[in-house]
Amino acid sequence: MLGNASGEEQMKMQISSCSLSPAVKSRLTAAGFHFLSELRGLSPSHICAEAGVSQQEALQVLQAVRGGASRRGGASGGGGVGGASVGPFPSLTALQLLQEEQSQRSIFSFCSQLDATLGGGLPVGKTTEICGAPGTGKTQLCLQLAVDVQVPVCFGGLGGQVVVVDTEGSFLLQRVQDIAGAVVKHCALLVEDDEQRVAMTTFSVETILSNIFLVRCHDYVELLAELHLLPDFLSEHPRARLLVIDSVAFPFRLHFDELSQRTRLLNGLAQQLIAMATSHNVAMVITNQMTTRLRGGQSQLVPALGESWGHAPTIRLLLQWAGTQRLATIFKSPGHPGATVQYQITSDGFRDADQSEQPPSKRPRTHTVQSAAGQRDSNQSAVGQRDSNQSAAGQRDSNQSAAGQRDSNQSAAGQRDSNQSAAGQRHSNQSAAGQRECS
Ligand SMILES: Nc1ncnc2c1ncn2[C@@H]1O[C@H](COP(=O)(O)OP(=O)(O)OP(=O)(O)O)[C@@H](O)[C@H]1O
Ligand SMILES: [Mg+2]
Repeated sequence: MLGNASGEEQMKMQISSCSLSPAVKSRLTAAGFHFLSELRGLSPSHICAEAGVSQQEALQVLQAVRGGASRRGGASGGGGVGGASVGPFPSLTALQLLQEEQSQRSIFSFCSQLDATLGGGLPVGKTTEICGAPGTGKTQLCLQLAVDVQVPVCFGGLGGQVVVVDTEGSFLLQRVQDIAGAVVKHCALLVEDDEQRVAMTTFSVETILSNIFLVRCHDYVELLAELHLLPDFLSEHPRARLLVIDSVAFPFRLHFDELSQRTRLLNGLAQQLIAMATSHNVAMVITNQMTTRLRGGQSQLVPALGESWGHAPTIRLLLQWAGTQRLATIFKSPGHPGATVQYQITSDGFRDADQSEQPPSKRPRTHTVQSAAGQRDSNQSAVGQRDSNQSAAGQRDSNQSAAGQRDSNQSAAGQRDSNQSAAGQRHSNQSAAGQRECS
């Protein structure tokens, strides 16, 4: 049986004895495949073409292959919490789990209020969903995190790499450069010792861009296929600490006649994301759109993809407009009470809204921001500072005009070809919706 075999045993397993449907097994065997190991590294389309199976069956085959690979990781001790739990008896005590969780770092968002509320930022090893209406800043927050995760360890960062799965074509190269430039400038202001000085010689916009691995998916089949290949990629890139999917909703909102098929695929996807977050020690950040739910004759804006999907993320964050303010609300988190904080999006990226509470210059590294969980270290707070002192309202106006220019910022790689000015209008229309949601 699949569940009892070790990784090596599983990879040596004959296709005829693994838990695939008889039809798929006979097609694979007829195509000349006899062992699971022979299918490793093949793409779903390759398997489709070679064995004449459907895309969905090819994904199931890859899942069987991945089962072997991930168990191999667990057996060698590289599986983290996920790896430790494999076996007939619990191999991890609650105390060990606590120690492991405490040693996990978080990725700060550069909005210190949000980080404090989340106990230091977005947690590595967990899944965080960012929901919100168009224009509320989901992509901006993702791009900010993609840069922040790379902040060198001596500045309180993770010195990590990031995989960005872009399903909407919303990855804007120019915007990433702007955000990266601001973070590099900010860290340069914080340099206090030789270690930091040396770190700054390699922490540049160019290196930041080189540590962002981009995957563009045009539909849900591509998304599922890429996700099957990602565990291998993450094994080969052990510095990866963040995986962004912007967004999960987009490829799943169309093309489904049968809702049950969508639910089944989404459940599988959720399992995969959770397993990947724990076994590869990455923060999984996914974005979701909002949809209107009619109940009792009343309409309500709720996150898309249905209620069962809502169980998948550990943390759910809602970005919304409330009048002239941008608000981020944690509406699901097992470890932190629900809370709402203000934020703004400036030309430098995702930031706190109320600048008046912060000194305009850099704060010393030893200054600790009180986090909800009281675990945030002083380095993290040092980097998570703002170095601008624009007012929230004033900034918003300039944001809007900057957003109007987004089209011209689009790079060849930034494939978004949707009508940005229409998106800008959608965004102002959404304020009212956001307020409804808020109330
Ligand atoms: N260079 C910039 N300077 C200031 N603000 C900006 C800049 N670029 C974008 N913004 C702000 O970010 C907003 C867009 O945010 P974002 O693209 O993250 O929205 P989203 O929630 O991902 O929307 P969608 O659901 O359409 O993908 C704009 O409305 C604008 O206010
Ligand atoms: Mg977006």
